[in-house]
Amino acid sequence: MKPLILGIESSCDDTSAAVLRGGVMLSNVIASQAIHARYGGVVPELASRAHLQNIIPVVDAALKDAGTTVADVDAVAFTRGPGLLGSLLVGLSFAKGFSLARNIPMVEVNHLQGHILSHFIDRPDVDTPHPSFPFLCLLVSGGHSQIVLVRDYLDMETVGETIDDAAGEAFDKCAKVMGLPYPGGPVVDRLASEGDPARFRLARPSVEGYNYSFSGLKTSFLYLLRDSLTLDPDFIEHNRADLCASLQNTVIEILLDKLVRAAEAYRIRDIAIAGGVSANSGLRRAVALQGERRGWRTFLPELKFTTDNAAMIALAGYHLYRAGRFSSLDVTPAARAGELS
Ligand code: KG4
Ligand code: ZN
Repeated sequence: MKPLILGIESSCDDTSAAVLRGGVMLSNVIASQAIHARYGGVVPELASRAHLQNIIPVVDAALKDAGTTVADVDAVAFTRGPGLLGSLLVGLSFAKGFSLARNIPMVEVNHLQGHILSHFIDRPDVDTPHPSFPFLCLLVSGGHSQIVLVRDYLDMETVGETIDDAAGEAFDKCAKVMGLPYPGGPVVDRLASEGDPARFRLARPSVEGYNYSFSGLKTSFLYLLRDSLTLDPDFIEHNRADLCASLQNTVIEILLDKLVRAAEAYRIRDIAIAGGVSANSGLRRAVALQGERRGWRTFLPELKFTTDNAAMIALAGYHLYRAGRFSSLDVTPAARAGELS
C-alpha cells in the first residue's frame, strides 16, 4: 500500500492539514484567519498566534475526515518556507513533535513547489488531468510571480520572476488605495466584471528576459486616483469598476506576454498556472484563450487548490518521501525562497 502522508501548511494566514494516500487526497482542512481583514493585511504576530490555536484541531479534523488515525501516518510533510517566520515555525514545530512522537520521517516542502504540484493531487472520485513533463507553470501568488520550467516532480527551474512586487501584491495594494477590503484580489476580480478594461491606460514594464515588474503599474494606478496631491474619493467611487477592470486587464497582459514568450522559447505546450492569483477569472480566461490560439494544453487548478492548502504540501511531501529526502530534526524555517534548496 502507498504511504499515508500528513501535510501541514502554515506559511501565511491559513492553517491547513491534509491527508493523502500516495497522490490521492483523502482530506484537506483549512482554517482561514479572519482577524487580519480589519488591519488591511496580514499581521505576522496575530497569524502565528492563530496558527498555534488552530493547528491541533485542524490536524484532528483532517485525520478524522480521512477516516484515519495518528497511528496510520507514515510521514509528515510541512512547509519550510518561504513565508512568515513565526507562522512557519508553528507548522515546523508541530511536524517535529509529530515525527518524534510517532517515530516517522518528516519531509520539508518548498511552498512554491507545493503550489506547482497542486496539479497532481488526485481524488478517489475525480479524474484530474496532469500536465506532462516538461511543462511551464506561471506561479502567481501574494508573495511571488514566477515562470517555472518543471522537468519533474522535484526538478524545477525558475526561468523568470518579478524583480519587485508580486502580481497578487499589485492587486492587494491597488485595492487598498481604493478602500477595498483585504485581500483585494478577489474583490477586484468581482468588480472588474462590470467595468471597461480599456478605460484607463496603466504603465507596462520593460524588464529583461522572462522577468516581471509590477511596481510601475502600482505607481501609475496611484496617480490615476489623485486630485493634485490627495486621493480623490469621488473619482474612485464613480469609477471603481472601470479602475478594477483596467488594473486586472493590465496585470493579465503583463503576465501573459512573458508566459507566451517563454513557451515559444522553450517550445513547451503544456502550460499550467498556480498560486492565489490563478483563481482570477480574467487570467483563467486569458490563459485558456491563448491555449486555444497556440495549441497549448492548459491546466487551470480547481479554485480550492489555488490558495494555500496542505494537500499540495502533502503531495510534494509524497514525492520527497519516495525519493528518500527526509529532513533532520535540526531543520529551521526559511522565510525567503533563496534560503531553500
Ligand atoms: O497563494 P496565496 O494564497 O498566498 C501566498 O502564498 O501569497 O495567494 C494570495 C494572493 C493574494 O494576493 C490575493 O489577493 C490573491 O492571491 N488572489 C487573487 C484572487 N484570489 C486570490 N487575485 C486576483 N484574483 C482573484 N480571484
Ligand atoms: Zn501560497
